[in-house]
Amino acid sequence: MNDLDNDSDEPTLTITVNQTTTLTCDEQRDLTALLKHCVQPQAITIDALMTVQRYRGWISDQTLTAIAQFLGISTAELDSVATFYNLIFRLPVAKIVLHPCNGMVCQLMGSAAVEAQLSQCLAILPGQSDSDNQFTLIPLPCLGACDKAPVMIAAQQLFEFITPENVSNILVNLSSATKITNGADTNTESRTGGHDDQ
Ligand code: FES
Repeated sequence: MNDLDNDSDEPTLTITVNQTTTLTCDEQRDLTALLKHCVQPQAITIDALMTVQRYRGWISDQTLTAIAQFLGISTAELDSVATFYNLIFRLPVAKIVLHPCNGMVCQLMGSAAVEAQLSQCLAILPGQSDSDNQFTLIPLPCLGACDKAPVMIAAQQLFEFITPENVSNILVNLSSATKITNGADTNTESRTGGHDDQ
């Protein structure tokens, strides 16, 4: 059972769905911090889902129920948000989720070839994870960086002007970086495809 020390104006935070789906103290603390800045819990549903996902990697049905109970909203209401928002993973994913953009501008700038190269390097199709459970490939529509097309988001970084030739280099750098820092950074940095940065 996980309880937090609450100030008088904070919600009661004892959630017990079952042993494996009870929100942890850290998760409850972070959700409580989010709740402090909103009038209605509906305003922070995406942030709440993202917050717990950072800890768990994905949002199972049981986790969804625990979050909904914590926020005081219905599971169906939260599920509709989770289903609509494509950065919430409702199935297990690998350590790093690759989101190459397949929006119109990126398509015009060669995103299909980039995506094909990602698939080939990892021996997976879109929606699948590789055999090492290191990468999951989930293409997304316009990522809002059309002037740098084709682009990809992965590990809170934006990779710009990607070409099939630098895909392999990006994967190696991502793989090494995760071994060094396994933290949950919320910032999205920009990187140009092919650079040897980390
Ligand atoms: S179409 Fe890819 S970022 Fe807009």
